[in-house]
Amino acid sequence: MAKNLNAKSVKKALPINIYGDEIGAYIEECRQFVARARRQEVIVEENGAAHKTKSRYATSRRSPGEETDLDAREKALRKLESDLAKREVELIEREIKYYGAQQELDRLRPLSGLYRVVKAMATERKLEALLDTITRETQTMLKCDRCSVFVLEPRGDELWSQVAQGVGAGTVIRVPLASNSVVALTARSAQVINIPDAYSDHRFDSEVDKQTGYLTRNILCVPLTNRKGETIGVFEVLNKSGGPFTEEDEEWLKGLAAVAAGLIEQAQSYEEIEHFVDKTLETLAQTIDKRDPLTAGHSIRVTRYSILIGEAMNIPEGDMDVLRYAAMMHDYGKIGVPEAILWKNGRLTPEEYALVQTHAKITYDLLSNLPFTRRLSEVPFVASCHHEKLDGSGYYRGLKGQEIPFLARIITVADVFDALTSVRHYRNRMEIAKVAEIMESGRENHFESELIDAFFRLPADRVLKVMESERGQVVPAELDLFQAITWQRLVELTDGAKAQPHEEELKDLFERIYNAGLPDDYQALD
Ligand SMILES: [Fe+2]
Repeated sequence: MAKNLNAKSVKKALPINIYGDEIGAYIEECRQFVARARRQEVIVEENGAAHKTKSRYATSRRSPGEETDLDAREKALRKLESDLAKREVELIEREIKYYGAQQELDRLRPLSGLYRVVKAMATERKLEALLDTITRETQTMLKCDRCSVFVLEPRGDELWSQVAQGVGAGTVIRVPLASNSVVALTARSAQVINIPDAYSDHRFDSEVDKQTGYLTRNILCVPLTNRKGETIGVFEVLNKSGGPFTEEDEEWLKGLAAVAAGLIEQAQSYEEIEHFVDKTLETLAQTIDKRDPLTAGHSIRVTRYSILIGEAMNIPEGDMDVLRYAAMMHDYGKIGVPEAILWKNGRLTPEEYALVQTHAKITYDLLSNLPFTRRLSEVPFVASCHHEKLDGSGYYRGLKGQEIPFLARIITVADVFDALTSVRHYRNRMEIAKVAEIMESGRENHFESELIDAFFRLPADRVLKVMESERGQVVPAELDLFQAITWQRLVELTDGAKAQPHEEELKDLFERIYNAGLPDDYQALD
């Protein structure tokens, strides 16, 4: 093989991955080339260029001129050998530097991973996303195949994988606390467990591998503990590449477990507070609803309808919380309206109606006293706007169009719909076609048109499930049959539209459910 061995070609011939056998192979190839040149199988010129000889030199027939040529070639060969030796040294030096850089990278890998974890903590609020980052970085830092964070259920008898890297997306692993699993053992003992060879360790139960088809080689588990020192979960890493987990790995995982535990504890506390606030507001709202058995559940239903519309309108998550609390509390001001008026079995006088109207302002005044967080600061205003109308004829501020918060416009639709489809002192549930007519006639003067559209496009079963919760009884299972049609279609069917095969019986079924269980002494006033 002829080869041009000048500096350019050597540089070009350098393998991209300069460590390993490729370097050795290349140097060997160069050496063989020199040997062949010495055997005069190739001609080497002074500039290092080489090509095959046309015929093998016969030294016995050398002429004086040929002797000079031989000297020149010998000189060129020596130079080539010298260059080769220098390049070999250069290559080895580069190789050493590369190894050094690799070692430095290995040393820095955990630090760079930690940097990304800290950065995520500063920018990401959602626990799931944070744990996802932590486990992904841990996987890289510890060079392991699987990495999971298990959280202990509040009732304390099961651990479940809040995040799991290396297993199928969306897979949740559940581990009974009383089981033989190393995760459960870690949670029970609250000790770090490092198993270098799973199949030779009595603490490892190979049943799990048999069930999942996974081959566990080594395991490192670190308990997650809260500030009180109680175990709240387990951080598990499996199958380190290139050998068992080291003491250094243990230290890293303990640090990461402390971070994860802190985040989980914080999220759990936040959830508990949120649940407490939710339940407190729900209870406050019910104290108003329950003053009158016929309006019981109104606030909760309005909240549920509002959420259905909000979801259909894809409103941001933060706004959904404002919507939920505002809808829940929208009628709270009724606490300031005399029961004799609220419960009046007949039409209200103008004076009485004016008194009822004060509830929107009272809602605002009372809710404004509550220390809502900045995120929820709009709740009092939104809640107090639920009787405003787009044309400005509503109360209590007489706001118009865009002056009315969008979320309040959602609550308005939900509130009116619930009022019309609920039994009231002065009337039965209104016929559904008439309800639709009233909603339609309110487009652009009372209601936001796109919200009416969104409501009518809702799957009928979801609307009916909220509606039927009014009676405080078990929601009929047949309501699932209404998944197939929208609320709009249900209205059309009740209005005499020709039913498609899959819609047959839905109309009768709906009417049976809608009109069931009315009070025996009910007297319609409308
Ligand atoms: Fe109201």
